[in-house]
Amino acid sequence: MKSFNEMWEDLKPYLSCEKGLDEGYADGKYTRFFAKYCNHVDGIDISDDFYKQAIENLKDVPNVDLKIMDAVKTPFEDKSYGVVLCTSFHEFDLSGKEKFTMDLQLKTNILKEMMRLSDTIVFAEISPTNISGELYKIFNPIEDHSFRTEVSNLLIDKVLRDSGYTRIIEDYAVDEIKYNDEESFLEDMLSWWEEVKVPSNEKEKEEMKQQIATILETQNMLTDLTFHDIFRYTVYRKGN
Ligand SMILES: C[S@@+](CC[C@H](N)C(=O)[O-])C[C@H]1O[C@@H](n2cnc3c(N)ncnc32)[C@H](O)[C@@H]1O
Repeated sequence: MKSFNEMWEDLKPYLSCEKGLDEGYADGKYTRFFAKYCNHVDGIDISDDFYKQAIENLKDVPNVDLKIMDAVKTPFEDKSYGVVLCTSFHEFDLSGKEKFTMDLQLKTNILKEMMRLSDTIVFAEISPTNISGELYKIFNPIEDHSFRTEVSNLLIDKVLRDSGYTRIIEDYAVDEIKYNDEESFLEDMLSWWEEVKVPSNEKEKEEMKQQIATILETQNMLTDLTFHDIFRYTVYRKGN
């Protein structure tokens, strides 16, 4: 499997262009990488909170312009971007309401809007094998996050191929997120899905942390104090 840096090296030729669009920038972590390669990056996200976070986090990156906008319908002109980048975007609920339903029609509409905007589309979506699928069950036991991720990846592939795009890259990479100690690791894991569930008291919080620790340790992540965030990344292109 590729390292996180190797993934960016692979994607560099496709991200290097005059104007690119980052869909679902969240805290701006991936926007920062994108802006190293692309001369000007517009970013859109539906969330006011993430807008504030990303504005703060990217204030030292001059070639990024962030907006609050729904990806399903944008005011941009047809094919006005050299590339559209979507990272950890499509496996999520895209209604902005954090309902976590699998609305395939909504996802399809968002993909169509992406294709309207660019002939090159880059995805880095979490892999169905990502341990976050197991962790997610602690927050919502009836939600099969890995299944949703798998369906999203298949949908992306079908919709783009049906519209004449060719997948020119498909690979896997791991982003190694390191922590200083066990406590900050577990607290961070609790915060990843706090919009789904916040423990109602100290006892429940400790129980959830214990469950998280057990799952992480199945892959020695707690011993290593490193979360291995596994991505499947793809590049689709239409024309030459
Ligand atoms: C899991 S985050 C991905 C964040 C970031 N790209 C990353 O990899 O760290 C998904 C993001 O998509 C945004 N989002 C969800 N639905 C959206 C929509 N319809 N239009 C635009 N952004 C949306 C969310 O607000 C959230 O910031």
